[in-house]
Amino acid sequence: MAPVDPHSYTDSTHPLTNHIALTFYFDFPSSTIFTSTLISLPAPHSGPFTLDTRSLSISSVLDPTTHKPLPFTLAAAIDPILGQYVTITLSNQSQVLILSKTATSSSALQWLSPPQTFNKSFPFVYTQCQSIHARSIFPCQDTPAARVRYTAKLNVPLHLSAVMAAKHVERKDPVAGESLGACEDSVWCEEGRVVEEFVMEQPVPPYLFAFAVGELGFREVGPRTRVYAEAVPNILDAASKEFAGTEEMIRVGERLFGPYDWERFDLLVLPPSFPYGGMENPRMVFLTPTVIKGDATGAQVVAHELAHSWTGNLITNKTNDHFWLNEGFTTYAERRIVEAVQGEDRAALNIGIGWRGLVEEMDRFKDNMEFTKLKTNQEGVDPDDIYSQVPYEKGFQFLWRIERQIGRPAFDVFLKKYIATFKFQSIDTDTFIDFLKANIPGIEEQIDLELWVEGTGIPPDAMEPVSNIYSKIVSLANEFQLGRMPKEDEVADWHGQEWELYLENLPKSVEASQVSALDARYRLSESKDYEVKVAFLQLAISSRCRDYYYEVEKTLKEVGRMKYLRPLYTALVQGTGKEEEKTFAKRVFSEACDCYHPIARGVVEAILAKFS
Ligand code: BES
Ligand code: ZN
Repeated sequence: MAPVDPHSYTDSTHPLTNHIALTFYFDFPSSTIFTSTLISLPAPHSGPFTLDTRSLSISSVLDPTTHKPLPFTLAAAIDPILGQYVTITLSNQSQVLILSKTATSSSALQWLSPPQTFNKSFPFVYTQCQSIHARSIFPCQDTPAARVRYTAKLNVPLHLSAVMAAKHVERKDPVAGESLGACEDSVWCEEGRVVEEFVMEQPVPPYLFAFAVGELGFREVGPRTRVYAEAVPNILDAASKEFAGTEEMIRVGERLFGPYDWERFDLLVLPPSFPYGGMENPRMVFLTPTVIKGDATGAQVVAHELAHSWTGNLITNKTNDHFWLNEGFTTYAERRIVEAVQGEDRAALNIGIGWRGLVEEMDRFKDNMEFTKLKTNQEGVDPDDIYSQVPYEKGFQFLWRIERQIGRPAFDVFLKKYIATFKFQSIDTDTFIDFLKANIPGIEEQIDLELWVEGTGIPPDAMEPVSNIYSKIVSLANEFQLGRMPKEDEVADWHGQEWELYLENLPKSVEASQVSALDARYRLSESKDYEVKVAFLQLAISSRCRDYYYEVEKTLKEVGRMKYLRPLYTALVQGTGKEEEKTFAKRVFSEACDCYHPIARGVVEAILAKFS
């Protein structure tokens, strides 16, 4: 057995799947999906064929042409990170049909009961597959080294609808025989059910598989963009206003990076428990509702997920060890789009916030410097546990460094060529470096590429951004230590991001009285902007300003975005003499965890366990 990816049981001697036909029967009362997975290989194969699974019950494995069972074995032990492999023995077959069902613990899925939704009337379910959760929905070679096309038929209750990161084919009555055995025909075709059919015609890595099912509505916001959300008029209205500039950003992206290859660019606004800010599911980006606040930041998250259409979805990291190829390039591309539509100052502010984040991660990983590298070794490591700003911001810094060296026009030509050369491929860091050296001769004499890629920490030629507004905010933050608070006129035109940068540049902990004085003047704890509110609450916790714990509890109970959960829970439990805070954190988690996505639940559990 020769693994191709530290996070998958996929064997390098086995063929890679090139097509999957899926059927799903959604049983909301039991939070279960009954599934048939028809896997196609490029050529007939004999011998063992291994797939990843987690929390799945497999009822049968069949040859789809003869309907004869195929022998298979399930791993006796379940690996806490990889899950449980299934090895099927093939004899000259190029297709295999697997019938399975999910468990309530399937890590990709969050099931919301009607009371957990906005409308309170119908249930909702959605996926989050990156990095290694697709295997908890259907068996697959769950490595980004594999790229598959797929079709999917989702059988859902008639009053609900489904969206996918794929092309919608039709909504139609169920037909006997089409479930391929996911469930009995009598169940599949029952009254009150409907089938939504989709096709993904471009080959994508499994982590980009995505759907959501619920009472959904939409608004048109551009020629190739709709925004979907739970069918609540004011949410749809606010979302369509927030994302009105999307088409302009797609055009900027096309000018900078080449044609947009995915036809549609729709957006789905999820419930507040969505664990990320955004997820670049192709044709249907998933977004947290916390970005809808009527300023420029919603557009920034959309710019990021849009940028993945080129960097990440067209060119994909071969394994998570090379995750920076996805996120570093995308952060660079996002800032180029933001610069084009919102101006240089806004882009500099984002670079500054990113720089702060990078510096802080160095401290977080001081005992585990491996994860301050661009190219990492993630053997035995759960990618969700080491998720950090490093691949984003150090990756951004590396590309920005190359841009400074060769100049923007040359870098733009290089980027376009890189994308055109490797699109629809999964590549590793060495492939990028070889391409860089071949296209920018002599670059290795000008930049220490090895230090950037293999080295730990922040290289000396990384750079903090230079801009008036950025420097002003940082120096105001430094003055806070001397007891000087910014004056009203100094902050008059500050938006969320200015405050975020200010708060993040304050010393880790200050006098509790200073925290209250700052809040008394600027009401940061009540900000509608979670970036500001959470940055403030983090400062309040580390300064032991307990007056704000009620607000901390409220925040931890109303959102499930890990960007907020992680720092708040960490601030509560990290450090000595924190018994009261630890008890508080555990109580809040036990009351809130039912509303978190399973991935977020796991991440918070890991934080609580590490410091208890
Ligand atoms: N692909 C990521 C989200 C992700 C990363 C999910 C790793 C699972 C594992 C997405 O593109 C992202 O980076 N989202 C950011 C947006 C921000 C950088 C604008 C987020 O969620 O905060
Ligand atoms: Zn990203």
